[in-house]
Amino acid sequence: MGKLLIVTIDGPAGVGKSTMAKRLARELGIPYLDTGAMFRSVAWKLGEGSWEWDEDKLKSELASFEYTLSGIGEESILSLNGTPIGNEVRTEEVGMWASNMATLPVVRSFLKEAQQSLGARFSLVAEGRDMGTVIFPEAPRKFFLDASVEERAARRFHQLEQMGKPADLEELKEQIAKRDHQDRNRAVAPLKAADDAVTIDTTELDKEQVFATLVQEMQK
Ligand code: DC
Repeated sequence: MGKLLIVTIDGPAGVGKSTMAKRLARELGIPYLDTGAMFRSVAWKLGEGSWEWDEDKLKSELASFEYTLSGIGEESILSLNGTPIGNEVRTEEVGMWASNMATLPVVRSFLKEAQQSLGARFSLVAEGRDMGTVIFPEAPRKFFLDASVEERAARRFHQLEQMGKPADLEELKEQIAKRDHQDRNRAVAPLKAADDAVTIDTTELDKEQVFATLVQEMQK
């Protein structure tokens, strides 16, 4: 087997990491790994308030969690114990639960091992908060996507509107800002750009422009 390629995409909530990771993975013919979905699935499976359990209890629950990955690009499927992780985890509420879970060293170290073990078996476009800094520090290509809170809230608002789920723009802005604050300020593996990451401020860019920038950088 040839050498595996890892591309990392980090950035705050709602910046469009998943959309770009899927497209870039398709372009490269490799799977993409949504590590936010891993934190979300832990929170979803263990339920509200489980981030307050003691470490031993969390550790013993996590011992039965096994993540597998199949498919390429948009068709990548991340499963927990054989069941694909679906849209049930992709609400803003479960995002906040995941952010709470993500402050716990016991959860981070369990998922770190799971993420690195997938990266040892597959080429990946891996997206999250600490892909370039902690999980895959040796990755040859690293990106950090950023955008203002206002822009990210507006994007989420339009996305929900298109899905027929009208939301409150001000509430979305508050939720995103709160999650950002927690993700950037936690003690373990906080959200930040790796020193060797290419940062792209997407506030004024549309999806095609962001994707074109990623592809250009990959060709360098
Ligand atoms: O990318 P997302 O919105 O699905 O992530 C949900 C939460 O999970 C996010 O607010 C913080 C946490 N997370 C993390 O701490 N590290 C990652 N690599 C990915 C997600």
